[in-house]
Amino acid sequence: MTAVVALKPVSDVVAARPDFDEARLAWLQETLLANRFLPEPTADSIFVGDGDFRAIGVEFLGHLVRFGGILPDDRVLDIGSGIGRLAVPLTQYLSPAAAYWGVDPVAEGIAWCRERISPVYDNFRFDRIDVAHHIYNPKGTIKGEALKLSFEPESFDFIFMVSVATHLPPREIAAYVREAQRLLAPGGRLFITAFVLDETAKSALPQRDPRLQFKREGEGPAWLVDRTAPLGAVGFDDGFFERVIQRFGLSLCLKSLGHWRGQPAAHYQDILVAEKKG
Ligand SMILES: C[S@@+](CC[C@H](N)C(=O)[O-])C[C@H]1O[C@@H](n2cnc3c(N)ncnc32)[C@H](O)[C@@H]1O
Repeated sequence: MTAVVALKPVSDVVAARPDFDEARLAWLQETLLANRFLPEPTADSIFVGDGDFRAIGVEFLGHLVRFGGILPDDRVLDIGSGIGRLAVPLTQYLSPAAAYWGVDPVAEGIAWCRERISPVYDNFRFDRIDVAHHIYNPKGTIKGEALKLSFEPESFDFIFMVSVATHLPPREIAAYVREAQRLLAPGGRLFITAFVLDETAKSALPQRDPRLQFKREGEGPAWLVDRTAPLGAVGFDDGFFERVIQRFGLSLCLKSLGHWRGQPAAHYQDILVAEKKG
């Protein structure tokens, strides 16, 4: 499994939305870090990677706003919502008029979110999808590439996958981009984090995360760290996401490379944002 680094100050990021309020967001992030009343799962129930659960969630709220342009009234779909690491900070950003859906194959994560988040925030809902995954849901009955989510077309303004494409094979990523095309309203956005094997990542800088020694799988596009546990960490040929995004009729509007590869960046994994044109 991969981890995201703990919260870092972000000063050099260009906001994806022109009217975005950096001062308000920074204040909200500080407040969230200090808020002792937000729900938090016990350490032994967290299955979404190591690091500080709260700090990573708050850091990602910042990335969703600054890079993705998520808006307070959006209808939001969190694909691979885990155990609420992003949902918890989003309860403090999204307005009561917004709607949030989290989907994930891990029953315990969905149960925790339903028990601890939905009773207080009734616009936050969670659904288990029984999609198969070697690590997270080995007995799953639905093949990822055949997955069709049970939402009506154009139901969402913002769809995100944080630390999920880093654990999926290329076919399943294509299936989700296809679903995003169907489920986004015109003008809606898809935000994905990933490991992109660009020339710098391939050059293996000494500062690169030593856990991520990717090797190309055959002719690509997947790059794996450990062939015996292929979905533990998956990287992709540079250009793969662009091709899939284009194939399903979305337009790439942002690609920001992360510091996992050993060069300075405001975030660890790479970030891609695509839009469904109106
Ligand atoms: C590293 S965790 C990240 C969870 C969450 N996004 C976060 O950042 O806290 C990866 C998540 O992807 C989920 N997952 C695995 N296969 C999936 C699939 N095919 N569709 C949706 N989610 C999946 C796992 O159950 C797990 O919760």
